[in-house]
Amino acid sequence: MMILGAILLLASSASAFPLGRSISNTLGGIITGKNKLTFNAAGNFKIVSFSDMHMGERPGDGSWAPWGPANDAATQVVHGTVLDNEKPNYVVFNGDMMTGENVFKANATNYLDMVYAPTVTRNIPFSSTHGNHDNANNINHQEEIEYEQAHYAHLSYTRSDVGPKPYGCGNYWVPVYAKSTDWVPAAILWFFDSRSFVSGTGNGPGPVPDAANYYWVDPNTVPNYIKLQRLLMTALWWQVPPALVFVHIPVQKAQILAPLPSPGDHDDEPDPSTQGFLNNTYTGLDLPFWDQIIALDGGKGNVLAITSGHDHGESWCARSKDSSGIPICFNGHSGYGGYVTEHSAVRNGRVFDMNLKDLSKKVPTVKTWNSYEDNTTDDAVELGPDYMAQYN
Ligand SMILES: *[C@@H]1O[C@H](CO)[C@@H](O)[C@H](O)[C@H]1NC(C)=O
Ligand SMILES: *[C@@H]1O[C@H](CO)[C@@H](O)[C@H](O)[C@H]1NC(C)=O
Ligand SMILES: *[C@@H]1O[C@H](CO)[C@@H](O)[C@H](O)[C@H]1NC(C)=O
Repeated sequence: MMILGAILLLASSASAFPLGRSISNTLGGIITGKNKLTFNAAGNFKIVSFSDMHMGERPGDGSWAPWGPANDAATQVVHGTVLDNEKPNYVVFNGDMMTGENVFKANATNYLDMVYAPTVTRNIPFSSTHGNHDNANNINHQEEIEYEQAHYAHLSYTRSDVGPKPYGCGNYWVPVYAKSTDWVPAAILWFFDSRSFVSGTGNGPGPVPDAANYYWVDPNTVPNYIKLQRLLMTALWWQVPPALVFVHIPVQKAQILAPLPSPGDHDDEPDPSTQGFLNNTYTGLDLPFWDQIIALDGGKGNVLAITSGHDHGESWCARSKDSSGIPICFNGHSGYGGYVTEHSAVRNGRVFDMNLKDLSKKVPTVKTWNSYEDNTTDDAVELGPDYMAQYN
């Protein structure tokens, strides 16, 4: 009764959020209509994250050329190869599904079908974050989310719990359980929406500020959402399970970590493009979000990693005092659409291999590597207190 009282108190104090649904469905353990995601018998739950598919590209003059469809087909081969090699339990599409500036309103969502197809034919559950190129004249984040929910309900865990609609609402979390009878999840996957040029001022849809370089997670709604969910988890479960965080555009701390010698591609440096820049000046507007990631970490290493796409030529993981010890990762480039850098020509997905033993350590750890279309893997590391310890 006391716990329930605490929850109702928390719920009534923040009516701006879809709490009824969060409590009854998500915190209660089951997302309506979905199977509970569980670790396998060996105690593993493996995720492949694909970024920057950039389907539907056309030449800048708006004409039609065969290289767009050819690239899209090649991207599907990349995904199929990585999925067959890794056999993951879950797939995360980490933004820039399509090059939204190039697609037609009549069939923009056909490109989502093409992005998801290799995963769907293999019957793998998945969810999405949305990138700056997923918002454009003929498509936006809300439309992508609603299409995914309507057409892939049997496999998709994507929601839109909070955030400005239609351009920045893909913020939600998904629990993964050690076994299906458990009440407390063994890990939580968190997904955030870093919006785009057309996202407006942060208070909702609006004009594009001339000075915006790239966008950032909405500072008005999302930090409160994370805080509230964290408090509810603590009230219900007496703990906040280890977290793996996905967001398309990296937080600005990624720029600070970029010069460190970490395994993976470093092609977009010295300054990989990140959240929070207006007129090439860092504003700190991504810090309200980042501060809640730090709170989620609790200074205990509870955030296993926060991983992004957006910078196709970056595919490393690093951590230091500057990131409060939290590992920041890049996914590399899984699509044949979008710009290509010297070392990102061989496309890849990033793998996170969670293991129950690793998660139950005093400070939890997670193994991660890049898996390539040429059937190779590289950059394998175990993220945790021993990783890059000399910088922490
Ligand atoms: C979308 O429509 C355009 C114009 O009719 C066509 O050229 C293109 O092939 C279509 N794309 C898909 C994925 O259906
Ligand atoms: C951007 O910075 C330049 C150079 O400092 C300045 O001239 C321009 O007015 C600024 N633009 C905006 C929209 O702030
Ligand atoms: C990767 O392995 C698959 C399955 O064995 C094979 O069909 C494909 O040709 C290989 N790709 C490369 C680039 O070696």
